[in-house]
Amino acid sequence: MSDPVADPKVMDSIVSLCKRRGFIFQSSDIYGGLSSAWDYGPLGSELKNRIQRFWWREMTQLHENIVGLDAAIMMHPKVWEASGHVENFDDLLVEDTVTNDRFRFDHLSEEQRNTMTSPAGNPLSAPRKFNLMFKTSMGAVEDSSTVVFLRPETAQGIYVNFKNVVQSTRVRIPFGIAQVGKAFRNEIVTKNFIFRTCEFEQMEMQYFVHPSEDEQWFEYWRNERMEYYRKLGIRMNRLRWKEHGPDELAHYAKAAFDIEFLFPFGWSELEGVHNRTDFDLSRHSEFSGKDLTYLDDSRDNERYLPYIVETSAGLTRNVLMVLADAYEEEEVGENDVRTVLRFHPDIAPIQVGVFPLVKKDGLAELARKIERELREDYSTFYDQGGAIGRRYRRQDEIGTPYCVTIDYETKENDTVTLRFRDSMDQVRIPVSEIASRIREESRKYRRVDS
Ligand code: GAP
Repeated sequence: MSDPVADPKVMDSIVSLCKRRGFIFQSSDIYGGLSSAWDYGPLGSELKNRIQRFWWREMTQLHENIVGLDAAIMMHPKVWEASGHVENFDDLLVEDTVTNDRFRFDHLSEEQRNTMTSPAGNPLSAPRKFNLMFKTSMGAVEDSSTVVFLRPETAQGIYVNFKNVVQSTRVRIPFGIAQVGKAFRNEIVTKNFIFRTCEFEQMEMQYFVHPSEDEQWFEYWRNERMEYYRKLGIRMNRLRWKEHGPDELAHYAKAAFDIEFLFPFGWSELEGVHNRTDFDLSRHSEFSGKDLTYLDDSRDNERYLPYIVETSAGLTRNVLMVLADAYEEEEVGENDVRTVLRFHPDIAPIQVGVFPLVKKDGLAELARKIERELREDYSTFYDQGGAIGRRYRRQDEIGTPYCVTIDYETKENDTVTLRFRDSMDQVRIPVSEIASRIREESRKYRRVDS
């Protein structure tokens, strides 16, 4: 199979499909929109929630030593001093002196940096420091003592709760704490739809280990995270590792690898796996004055500051990846192209479409009854409008993996047609087997072209 290539045109098709079918809308659309802010519509919020649930199950339910957390977005300002965000969360910003477009200095090519010219070929302004944290104030009186930040990552909420979790649960090292939540960064350059935005969601897991075992757990989590994307149904030739060189490592990291995905605009970061050493707990010990060491009864009561292996994925960026990987315009006949989203059945916003072949002769009532029963197990959609082929295509476009059609034969022998999105194959099965057959098909689901 030849190597896949990025296709920037697909991005426009995805953005337009997302708006047309209710996945993602521009924020405050009726006021002309707010750049970089997006609202998740009926199908988009369902898709995002399902990806989040898939990650949460993978992390907490399938790993007995990982527990969950939901920390507040606004934290004590000292957290951000300890974390290094006040000091280090600066980017160098440059401006095109003709168009006023702004760029992150480190995102420019070496030649552009050396000649100080913008991508449009115009002179650039001198680089300025720019802090990425959003500041706000808490309380009625606005003065410097009330300044708080909107968290730029969820990870710090986990570190400051390390002791609480150890004391209130039975977890023993090695163990992890998982969290999903909003994060905010005043990004200089926001682009590519929901790829980089000022308000986004992260799915982070911090794994606390003995300092002598950091490297082995780092390798373990690298494998687990790639495996997660395979389970999510992503084509593996669209994913790759990128190691951070010594000059790219964040201030806290001993080693870091990004999982990159081939987005329509090219290979870009999807998730980071970081060996953060004991940086975080030692800094929070120092700044809070609290002892965050761990007493390890499995190692002769050795007391130490655990090392942390972090897996940090963008939830909203996962949504874009899933959409980009699933999107296809497939030729299915002469001059016939269907748009299809090949979502894994577990994350498809609608899992089963239910249609009566025609509305009359009691078929609509029968289809309604079947659809109501399926609702117990699946998210369903009932549609009785238009030709059956058109109804299938409408579901293909939003990624519904299964459609059930009720026809005259159903009245005679209690069977229906089950139609598969990817292959467009159809089989005849008894009504009583619809739910179990769909469960079985979803469990063994493999993308046709993966
Ligand atoms: N706690 C470590 C951390 O936050 P990061 O590499 O800055 O590391 C982790 O962010 C992930 O969060 C990224 O791989 C990306 O998926 C997501 N992310 C970061 N900034 C984002 C933004 N402005 N918009 C959308 N997703 C973002």
